[in-house]
Amino acid sequence: MNFLTILIIIFAAFHTGANETSKIVNILDCGALPDGHTDNTKAFSVFFDTIIAGRRKGYIPAGHYLVTSTLEWDLSLVPGLIIEGDGPASTKIEIISSSNHGWLFTSDKNTAAFYWTFRDMAVFGKSKGPLISFGRKGSGCTSAFNTFWLNGLVINNYDNSSTSTVVEMNGVYNSIISASVNGNDLNDALRLTCAQFNQFTGSYSNAHVGIRMLGSYTFANVFSAIDIEVVDIAIQIDDTAIGGSNSFVGGTFITNNEGSAQKCFVKDESSTRMGHNTFINPVVGPGRPVYCGSRSIEFISTRGVELPASFSYTDVPPPSGKLLINPIPSKLQIMFGGGNVTGVTINGKEFPTSGGQWILQPNDSFIIYYVVAPIWSCRPF
Ligand SMILES: *[C@@H]1O[C@H](CO)[C@@H](O)[C@H](O)[C@H]1NC(C)=O
Ligand SMILES: *[C@@H]1O[C@H](CO)[C@@H](O)[C@H](O)[C@H]1NC(C)=O
Ligand SMILES: *[C@@H]1O[C@H](CO)[C@@H](O)[C@H](O)[C@H]1NC(C)=O
Ligand SMILES: *[C@@H]1O[C@H](CO)[C@@H](O)[C@H](O)[C@H]1NC(C)=O
Repeated sequence: MNFLTILIIIFAAFHTGANETSKIVNILDCGALPDGHTDNTKAFSVFFDTIIAGRRKGYIPAGHYLVTSTLEWDLSLVPGLIIEGDGPASTKIEIISSSNHGWLFTSDKNTAAFYWTFRDMAVFGKSKGPLISFGRKGSGCTSAFNTFWLNGLVINNYDNSSTSTVVEMNGVYNSIISASVNGNDLNDALRLTCAQFNQFTGSYSNAHVGIRMLGSYTFANVFSAIDIEVVDIAIQIDDTAIGGSNSFVGGTFITNNEGSAQKCFVKDESSTRMGHNTFINPVVGPGRPVYCGSRSIEFISTRGVELPASFSYTDVPPPSGKLLINPIPSKLQIMFGGGNVTGVTINGKEFPTSGGQWILQPNDSFIIYYVVAPIWSCRPF
């Protein structure tokens, strides 16, 4: 390698570096003044327009940026944008907006906005809600965000009008969402419409509802190690949600909002359209969880518990006509066949049957009637 080749390589390296640097849009170059007083609405508008037009990366350095009106950006057709700050303790954006939205990121070209990253900053303020929306409300499931990443975000909406929301997502797929989202007594921390195949973690607290599903299909998401505290209702699944097959793995769901009328761990108004919203080993409280409707909810933290010794019917059927109560906080599966069974009674209701499978909920009562004892099995389910 001769000297000239080395020079060219060094020159090329610097050159690439210079191009990489010039791809980053710094909000301070867009006229922002992060002193906590100056209105930076215009600067943010220029910032996002520049990033979107140039398909570039945006950087919001440490500072307190005040923004006073609604801003809206369409991210369709510009994949791969990255907006980042210096961390939620340093980059702070305060939105004081009297209209319904603080910030609204849309995908209005009826296509998904792909591969977007939004990270490392705090966004707080007062907005009738949502403070931040990803996807336009009512846009259905087609105008969506696909494969996007929210990380290192702290988002707080202090507005306390009854309709307010902190973060709303309308059409989010295949994404990873990690944030600390806080409201106050009257609003919902996170509202989901059309959220599918996402992984959520973080905290959704200090609100009326922690996470609420509504509007359309929200299914096959995993909510792992979610921290929901100081709420009236931890999880609400509206009848409009068509919410099903969501998994809540670990996490805490604490309904200790002071002065609240309702304390529901889960408020489930969904019809039985999908079901299988499953909680695995949740921490709930205070006291025993209150289920406000449970049509689509299952718990498997107690799966596999032993039947108490006093419940001696594991492999032999109880005497015909004897009342049996499911003693465990888990479903019980009863199967029987053969012999001469004439029927069963579950919670006082009679079913003529000669065999089959029956699932008992906790505390359900069960009586089997037979002339000749059947082959019988009874297990936690
Ligand atoms: C870097 O920028 C120079 C001019 O500023 C341009 O000629 C070159 O093509 C750019 N390289 C890349 C990889 O974008
Ligand atoms: C809303 O907050 C204001 C102060 O921020 C307080 O004075 C008011 O009582 C609150 N309203 C409700 C309904 O909580
Ligand atoms: C079951 O018992 C009833 C009552 O004794 C009897 O009428 C019926 O024939 C029996 N059925 C079978 C399949 O043995
Ligand atoms: C089952 O009954 C017991 C005793 O009445 C009660 O303490 C418990 O809360 C009930 N469990 C459920 C899940 O309803």
